[in-house]
Amino acid sequence: MRIVLLGPPGAGKGTQAVMLAEKEGFLHFSTGDILRENVKKDTQIGKKAKAFMEKGELVPDDIVIEMMLDTIKNAEPKKDFILDGFPRTVYQAKKLDSELDKLKLPVEIVIYFKTSTKIVISRLAGRRLCSKCGANYHIVNMPPKKQGLCNKCGSDLYQRKDDSEETINTRLEVYNSQTKELIDYYKAKGILKEVSGDLEAQKVYSRLSEILKTPAK
Ligand code: AP5
Repeated sequence: MRIVLLGPPGAGKGTQAVMLAEKEGFLHFSTGDILRENVKKDTQIGKKAKAFMEKGELVPDDIVIEMMLDTIKNAEPKKDFILDGFPRTVYQAKKLDSELDKLKLPVEIVIYFKTSTKIVISRLAGRRLCSKCGANYHIVNMPPKKQGLCNKCGSDLYQRKDDSEETINTRLEVYNSQTKELIDYYKAKGILKEVSGDLEAQKVYSRLSEILKTPAK
């Protein structure tokens, strides 16, 4: 199954994608993670993307589209996969559709995480990540066993630069002006399913599992 996760920053897309990948064996392609890795390694993509990401703006379509389509084709596209954070504009969605149609592997389901603004702000402000393995925590909702340290590998946790208050506001504006219209795009294709992203993570996962078990009409 080929799945797109759609929703505002902080809706829990990454958290659910990791759970689905661990429990159901999906490949997980996160645009944000791939871009951050490129920034860290100072690649050509990373050099071009860095300033946009730090401001909370979208990285230009041409860079992201090429990067993600290459990632999909170089992985095993016939395996089940989850796209987390891609597409994020209608232009990206159309390019993705046309490439996946050529491979005869179209997106089958799009999960929209409907999440209130108050909740996403508190989630992003409290998010912490492991500096080594990337595991995701929240200082209140999903705290590590030992403050500031990763449960899995014991490394230090850090806060993403774009999780500052000012950048969170920009990211939400960008979501509303450039990404939200994808809800109608996928609704028109008849493949959009909605879950409440406001629920506790395990409940969101149960709802997602139910949706994925229901055969498409
Ligand atoms: P990206 O990394 O994709 O950021 P995002 O979409 O803003 O999403 P987040 O990672 O912030 O949130 P999430 O929904 O995954 O939430 P999470 O599970 O972590 O993109 C970063 C940047 O890269 C963009 O700003 C842009 O510059 C660029 N970019 C990326 N894709 C692009 C594209 N396609 N085109 C152009 N540019 C692109 O959860 C958040 C927190 O809440 C965590 O602390 C978690 O522990 C907690 N939490 C999660 N679920 C729950 C729950 N149900 N209950 C309680 N707490 C929860």
